[in-house]
Amino acid sequence: MSLSRRDVLRAGLLASGSLLLPRWARADESLFSTAAFPSPFLRPFVAELPIPPIPRQAAPFATMRQVPAGAVYHEIRGRAGLHRYHPDLPLTSVWGYEDVNGAGGSPITPGPTFVSREGTPMVVRFRNELPPNHIGFGAPNMAIHRHGGEQSSEDDGYPTDLFRPGESRDYVWNEFQHFDEPRETQSLLWYHDHVVDFTSQNVYRGMAGFFLRYSDRDPGDENDPRGLRLPSAPYDIGLAFQDRRFAPDGSLVYDVFDHNGFLGDTFLVNGAINPFMRVKRRKYRFRMLCGSNARYYQMFLSTGQPFTVIGTEGGLLERPLQSPSISMAPGERYDVILDFSSYPQGAEIVMENRLEQKSGRGPDGPAAFGTPIMKFIVDGNAPDNSVIPFQLRPPFRPDPFPPTTRRIFEFGRSKGGWVVNGQLWDENRVLATPRLDDVEIWTLRNGGGGWHHPVHIHLTLSQILSRNGRPPAPIDAGMRDMVNLGPGDEVDVRVQFQKFRGRYVFHCHNVEHEDMAMMARFDTI
Ligand code: C2O
Ligand code: CU
Ligand code: CU
Repeated sequence: MSLSRRDVLRAGLLASGSLLLPRWARADESLFSTAAFPSPFLRPFVAELPIPPIPRQAAPFATMRQVPAGAVYHEIRGRAGLHRYHPDLPLTSVWGYEDVNGAGGSPITPGPTFVSREGTPMVVRFRNELPPNHIGFGAPNMAIHRHGGEQSSEDDGYPTDLFRPGESRDYVWNEFQHFDEPRETQSLLWYHDHVVDFTSQNVYRGMAGFFLRYSDRDPGDENDPRGLRLPSAPYDIGLAFQDRRFAPDGSLVYDVFDHNGFLGDTFLVNGAINPFMRVKRRKYRFRMLCGSNARYYQMFLSTGQPFTVIGTEGGLLERPLQSPSISMAPGERYDVILDFSSYPQGAEIVMENRLEQKSGRGPDGPAAFGTPIMKFIVDGNAPDNSVIPFQLRPPFRPDPFPPTTRRIFEFGRSKGGWVVNGQLWDENRVLATPRLDDVEIWTLRNGGGGWHHPVHIHLTLSQILSRNGRPPAPIDAGMRDMVNLGPGDEVDVRVQFQKFRGRYVFHCHNVEHEDMAMMARFDTI
């Protein structure tokens, strides 16, 4: 029923044409050509920013999995449903996640926001209730990857470890305590579908959500004097940036033949088109996630106010830094603080993207005009006990031993698709076998052609040691799990795989590149 890009590749249909294929496979379900019809114009700032709810705890259930002590349980179902992207747009058929113990109704996209505490593991049962006879883009199989998480191979959403409609799978998400390892102070993870060949299509349909992690140092309570006192709930908010195309009937437009990276012309935050958010005159912590398939962003505030960056994917920076803009590649996250206290009541601040991008190749450079993404409206006062600490964590300690192994991976274009070291993804081909706890250096190299590749390595966090022979910029100097490779880039990263032996993947997070085979397996031994 579903058509993957690699099916197309295997069938040799790339050149001979999509005419041999069923009509639905060629473009979107409503058969508007993506090139000929832009999305309908929708007034900005009329939808309020949705904040995906935290799932309720489930009663402990019987599971075949070994459950770590003290685990909390959740139960989520993946379903098809109708979603309101904008008040003026008809309802859209999407796939999303729904908390089985929640208020009910329909699945949401982004899905429920998991919140965990370091040291408290979670067991999550995901039920696949997607339509088995689905027609259109996407495949109704599920594999859940908690991106940024340190989890066993079977809990990692390995792309072929998928479960089908009517089946369920229990994921054990461990939460190791890292207080003696300042490299690992993770705070903003996310989860998304990772089904082999269909990650791009399924994520585009809605299968993604936030996962926030707190720790003793970052307890999520600005009033707790033992912690860092960063702005906390309800002033700690995830913002997922995505782009989509819509037909006039509200349906999602997608092109399964775009192997370069599908771009939308309409911008969502947390599943709403150009939303607004009412903010108090105080500090907020925003977890910015680029959840787009292939779109890069450079976000500015219309008032010129800079962002105070406190962290990236792998946790907190050593010190906060001020940045006039936030540049984001697919899969990247930025943990920032914005202070609205100096604005008058009623002030409006627009977040806009000033990066031009015309194709999946990557950004073209600064745009002549900013594209509005969302708007903050200053509305009232609220107490603020949060602080922006001078230091967020101790500096990284040098490794006691030199790295044991150096591996080189080149991300390029070949064989009619996208390759790592000349190879298309093959679940049985192992490109590396790092030993647990060894410190290794991986050289990630852009294979050329002017393409951008945002690279993600599972299981470990990456520390950028050098980019093109130079030390990383301050914003790149914390722990990350994304390493963007711009044209000509060669980046050395320190990796150290720990705790779990098994098979994992690393891949380009331009998810059309990933599905068109820019992914490789490594086994920790
Ligand atoms: Cu966010 Cu392997 O992916
Ligand atoms: Cu990951
Ligand atoms: Cu790529």
